[in-house]
Amino acid sequence: MKIAIGADHAGYRLKDVIVPLLKQQGHEVMDVGCDCADSVDYPDYAIPVCGMVVNGEVDRGILICGTGIGMSIAANKTPGIRCALVHDLFSAKATREHNDTNVLAMGERVIGPGVAEEIVKVWLETPFSQGERHRNRIRKVTEMEENSLHP
Ligand code: RB5
Repeated sequence: MKIAIGADHAGYRLKDVIVPLLKQQGHEVMDVGCDCADSVDYPDYAIPVCGMVVNGEVDRGILICGTGIGMSIAANKTPGIRCALVHDLFSAKATREHNDTNVLAMGERVIGPGVAEEIVKVWLETPFSQGERHRNRIRKVTEMEENSLHP
């Protein structure tokens, strides 16, 4: 797969663990930064990663900040992005099967690198279930984006 990855200053160390894992697994990686502890703003990294996903330049995106929360909020503002904040293996599998998520967010300050590596592997390997009920729910979310419908 082609995978875009980005992180802020609180997530770049975990990104530096995940990028070699992705390459070792045969993926093509587009790394948008950042690469040091100087303070940056997470939307500035979510925007290019999500742009590459919705434009079809890459198959999936991975975003990392301190908690993963800011990145997931920012990512889900992009129409066509379904981003899941994941810190456990059950959710990594379930969000692919049920939500067909195309972006994964994680928090470097929440989980260790070993768990993060396993999450990435499971999230990339698990296919969407194609279940009719799940497709129907995703369609409704897409319609919310298209119609700006909010409950
Ligand atoms: C940076 O201090 C931190 O706020 C950021 O990485 C992220 O956790 C925000 O949601």
